[in-house]
Amino acid sequence: MDTTPQFLGRNVFDLDDYSAEEILYILEAAKGMKEINLREYKKIPTLRGKTICTLFVENSTRTRMSFELAASRLSADVVSFQASVSALQKGESLQDTVYTLDAMGIDLYCIRHSSPGSPQLVHKYSGKPVINGGDGRHAHPTQALLDIFSIWEKLGSLDGLKVTIVGDILNSRVVRSNLIGMKKLGAQVTVCGPKTLMPGSMEEIYGCRVEYDLKTALSDADVVMGLRMQLERQTEGLFPSLEEYSKHYVLSKDTIQWAKHDALIMHPGPMNRGIEILPEIADGTQSIIVEQVANGVAIRMALMFLILGGKA
Ligand code: CP
Repeated sequence: MDTTPQFLGRNVFDLDDYSAEEILYILEAAKGMKEINLREYKKIPTLRGKTICTLFVENSTRTRMSFELAASRLSADVVSFQASVSALQKGESLQDTVYTLDAMGIDLYCIRHSSPGSPQLVHKYSGKPVINGGDGRHAHPTQALLDIFSIWEKLGSLDGLKVTIVGDILNSRVVRSNLIGMKKLGAQVTVCGPKTLMPGSMEEIYGCRVEYDLKTALSDADVVMGLRMQLERQTEGLFPSLEEYSKHYVLSKDTIQWAKHDALIMHPGPMNRGIEILPEIADGTQSIIVEQVANGVAIRMALMFLILGGKA
């Protein structure tokens, strides 16, 4: 019996749809894609003739550009939907937008949207596979995969690793997808932040540890991930001031010493330097933040290759 994971035509809404074995298979595929990205000629013909649409209805730098670069490196045609200059501005619905794009022959959609569940809607309207590039506060599975890949590549495995994620847990789709994926691979994840930015029942839902004190949360951590304070989603004054937040939760030389001396420092970006992380740490020797960005291209290449049945 063939037990090779099957990805052809699948959606990537979040990582709960994927087993640990499937996630590891994606990481191995991304390792091969990373090798291509390090060549002088960074292109293979595997998706020639396929058309990939990046349908971004919320701002992005890393995710959008790495999806487009990934598609281009696999020789697919890329249709880049610009929401701000599209007929969405004239009141066209998401449904009619997808019908319109689909009429042009799209094979795969990569979507970002501020509304949770939008990737499922795009799949429903198009019948085509959809990769979620971030939907509201809900999920950001390709970010989690590239984060997991970055740790796996450096440390060999996530099994038994202590990972501490610090920041605006309430508003973070990155943390939710990472909790699902990292737990599947055996990591012990601690989330830390102010009580007002910590959703209820995190332990029950995700099997993680919740800490409000940074020193306790960082103690003995192998990996420390800072999260962006999502100022655009702060509508209720959930903490007194950015200075107050920073005083208790910033990742700095002083606070990071509570983790293991060689702990990896991560951040999904974009960063608010000086609020959740200081440049001395973001740009320091333990930081793999720039590598995370590079690995994002490899992970997205791997997913496109597997979903569209690229030829090795
Ligand atoms: N990490 C991330 O999703 O960054 P962008 O918003 O720039 O895509």
